[in-house]
Amino acid sequence: MVRIIRWLEKQQIPLDSSVLDIGTGNGVLLIELAKSGYTDLTGIDYSPSAIQLSEKVREKEGMSNIKFKVSFERKFIEEIESS
Ligand SMILES: C[S@@+](CC[C@H](N)C(=O)[O-])C[C@H]1O[C@@H](n2cnc3c(N)ncnc32)[C@H](O)[C@@H]1O
Repeated sequence: MVRIIRWLEKQQIPLDSSVLDIGTGNGVLLIELAKSGYTDLTGIDYSPSAIQLSEKVREKEGMSNIKFKVSFERKFIEEIESS
């Protein structure tokens, strides 16, 4: 996670860039990105319980601007099936 944030900073990715975390789990990557100043953050996960957990973590951390949604990313599966 620290390496991802360092990479974004090294590449000088603007803080207002849209970031989509596919398979966000408990959402902690986006929480850390918000702490680093990123403002347009969305996390999706196909697990409703993961999204519920990420919403609790978001509330605890006071990061109400992060968006979380239950969603299934089909593209990964198609790539695995075709390889
Ligand atoms: C390792 S965990 C979370 C990692 C998180 N992004 C981080 O950096 O801490 C991976 C998550 O991906 C979700 N996931 C796996 N395949 C997915 C798919 N096709 N669409 C949406 N979510 C998916 C799982 O439910 C799981 O919560």
